[in-house]
Amino acid sequence: MATSSLLEQRLIARIEREGPLSFAEYMRIALYDPESGYYAAGTPRIGWSGDYFTSGDLGDFFAHCLGRQLWQMWEELGRPQPLRVWEQGARRGELEVGVRAWAEQEQPAFATALSYRGLDLHRGEDILSAEVLQQLREQEGVPHVILANELVDAFPIHLVEVQQGQLYEIYVGLEKGRLRELAAPPAPEVVTYLDRYCMRWRSFPNGWRAEINLEALRWVELQASLLRRGFLLVIDYGDRASRLYRRTRPQGTLLCYHKHRVNEQPLARPGEQDITAHVNFSALIDEGRRHGLRLRLFTTQRAWLEHLGIFEELEQLRRTHFSAADQERATDQGQIALLRWYNLRQRVLALTDPAGLGNFKVLIMRR
Ligand SMILES: C[S@@+](CC[C@H](N)C(=O)[O-])C[C@H]1O[C@@H](n2cnc3c(N)ncnc32)[C@H](O)[C@@H]1O
Repeated sequence: MATSSLLEQRLIARIEREGPLSFAEYMRIALYDPESGYYAAGTPRIGWSGDYFTSGDLGDFFAHCLGRQLWQMWEELGRPQPLRVWEQGARRGELEVGVRAWAEQEQPAFATALSYRGLDLHRGEDILSAEVLQQLREQEGVPHVILANELVDAFPIHLVEVQQGQLYEIYVGLEKGRLRELAAPPAPEVVTYLDRYCMRWRSFPNGWRAEINLEALRWVELQASLLRRGFLLVIDYGDRASRLYRRTRPQGTLLCYHKHRVNEQPLARPGEQDITAHVNFSALIDEGRRHGLRLRLFTTQRAWLEHLGIFEELEQLRRTHFSAADQERATDQGQIALLRWYNLRQRVLALTDPAGLGNFKVLIMRR
């Protein structure tokens, strides 16, 4: 029997024994189960041959901009030696490689100061565990920058649905021995969450759905407690609450990724597909402020990359590596240079596309 079926059987056995699971608990098992969860099992299924790709898979531009951002932070903090950066959800350290390459080439003093620590479930490090992070802080020292790219969207979320002006929470139960959604009264912290953002969900149409990421609140609180003087940098898809939780977005933002195909069936293939929801950045900002962080920047990935010189880097490359595209265009060499250049330019356009990655949000908070 395939691993996914085994996980499904275990989920079914647990629900038979203990009753329905909140969607958050179901998602926690489907993604994080140590043996068969999507993130815990085997190798990362990210990149061109996996289920989806991230900004860092589109060449070095993203990591180089991140390098410039970290360098600016280092300067602002008075050039600490070392600058401790913790990347949470770091996969296999792909971004670190790009950041280091940029630093060694462009800012050697910063490269020497940079102490970059990647953490990921694939290495057995669960950043939702306070013990894991506290222990690291004791062993390696207080971090100056905590960063996370496309991490918070994978935290287990509670699902809610409006019916006749009432809020229900979606649980995972059983019907004829198969996993099925069922609606029941929500947990109190789920109800109060939506009311914090003054949403008029009571007047929303039947079937209107939203995701509630309580884990993100706990995570921000924990990060704030880890920082003494430094920055929290979060990049992800999502938006402010007022734009996320809208009457005109009745189905919420929950999506699953399997082999570069998107679906809306989170109960299919537990452990075999990624499950994500857009991030409520208002919640991160409010929670950060509640725990002593100040808002430094909230913008789109496009604006952030532009500010950090992505287009200048592209132009620079054209001059230094692809001059044949301009000077010898009629030759084979010139044509090859031109095609390679188009390829690079396309990557930058994808990273900054306002209808795609460019609309991801970048949040920087400071203590
Ligand atoms: C979408 S990937 C992003 C990877 C990387 N940041 C990038 O930019 O390509 C999310 C990563 O977060 C990791 N992850 C998710 N939840 C985690 C947790 N609770 N603790 C540690 N890593 C986690 C996953 O294993 C995965 O590698």
